[in-house]
Amino acid sequence: MKPVSLIDPKAALRSDRSGWPRHLLSCDGLSIEAVEQLFVAAREMRLVGRRRVKKLPTLRGRTIINVFFENSTRTRVSFELAGKRMGADVINFSASGSSASKGETLGDTARTLDAMNPDLIVVRHGAGGAPWFLAERLSCSVVNAGDGINEHPTQALLDAFTLSEHIGDLNGKRVVIVGDIAHSRVARSNIHLLNTLGAEVICVAPRTMIPAGFTDALPATWHPCLDDLIETADAVMMLRIQRERMKQSLFPQDREYSIRFGMNPERAARLPEHAIIMHPGPINRGVEIDPAVADGRRAVILDQVENGVALRMAIGFLLLGGSGE
Ligand code: NCD
Repeated sequence: MKPVSLIDPKAALRSDRSGWPRHLLSCDGLSIEAVEQLFVAAREMRLVGRRRVKKLPTLRGRTIINVFFENSTRTRVSFELAGKRMGADVINFSASGSSASKGETLGDTARTLDAMNPDLIVVRHGAGGAPWFLAERLSCSVVNAGDGINEHPTQALLDAFTLSEHIGDLNGKRVVIVGDIAHSRVARSNIHLLNTLGAEVICVAPRTMIPAGFTDALPATWHPCLDDLIETADAVMMLRIQRERMKQSLFPQDREYSIRFGMNPERAARLPEHAIIMHPGPINRGVEIDPAVADGRRAVILDQVENGVALRMAIGFLLLGGSGE
């Protein structure tokens, strides 16, 4: 791939996009160059989102289908807005209103959609691996918008983009991810990506929320105590407890959990001056994050949301490569 000039952002939009894969399924294996190219494009796209007329002709005539088999607010709206702001025709499809609820298999649903010749299918599914299954069978590009507890690459990319905007080069920085690591596709994708970008990732969680072998399989360490790390973190990423994925409770009480693992004003005050607090949303106020912190000066939760739209516009651009005009 040709190197992209970080000094001339427009160069990214003119440059060779061949370094980008056809599908975006995982953060594992993304190159630093591909990520930097994406960030340069996302910075440009964010400016478009702040304009009065928030539309580019780049993906005019292209078709994107967003296929969501699991609930979503920000990811789904973000992908829809991103596609529309790039000028594409965007169709949203959710499992509850579809033939999936009549017993159609994922393979048949996918083949049906593919026969309509879309350019990109964005898929969220409760089963880990579903986006790979589709990518092998469809002729269009596939983006993983979250597959079970496995991966959520666009969330990690928007997180890393937000991090780099706030704390600069991630090489050598310490990112602490706190909470329900066991059920978090956000954590898994972030661990892969942050490792590629040179950051150190420490997962903080009760023992019951770290799967056996997790830190052997992924480039991260586990620590049971948030207070031990708070003064040395460059960023803290709080996670929601995903009760919908639990067969049994993994801790005694919300109050107990908040006291040991919650981000409260006392802990936030002990962070280094430059450190930021992140959350992929949806937040559970008063459980993993205190309302005063969620709305406080260190929280960048809404920046993450704004950056998410810009980053997904940039992904559409890099995967589909524009209209050729
Ligand atoms: C996350 C998800 O769905 O994995 N949310 C998101 O996409 N912004 C995390 C969560 O649901 O807690």
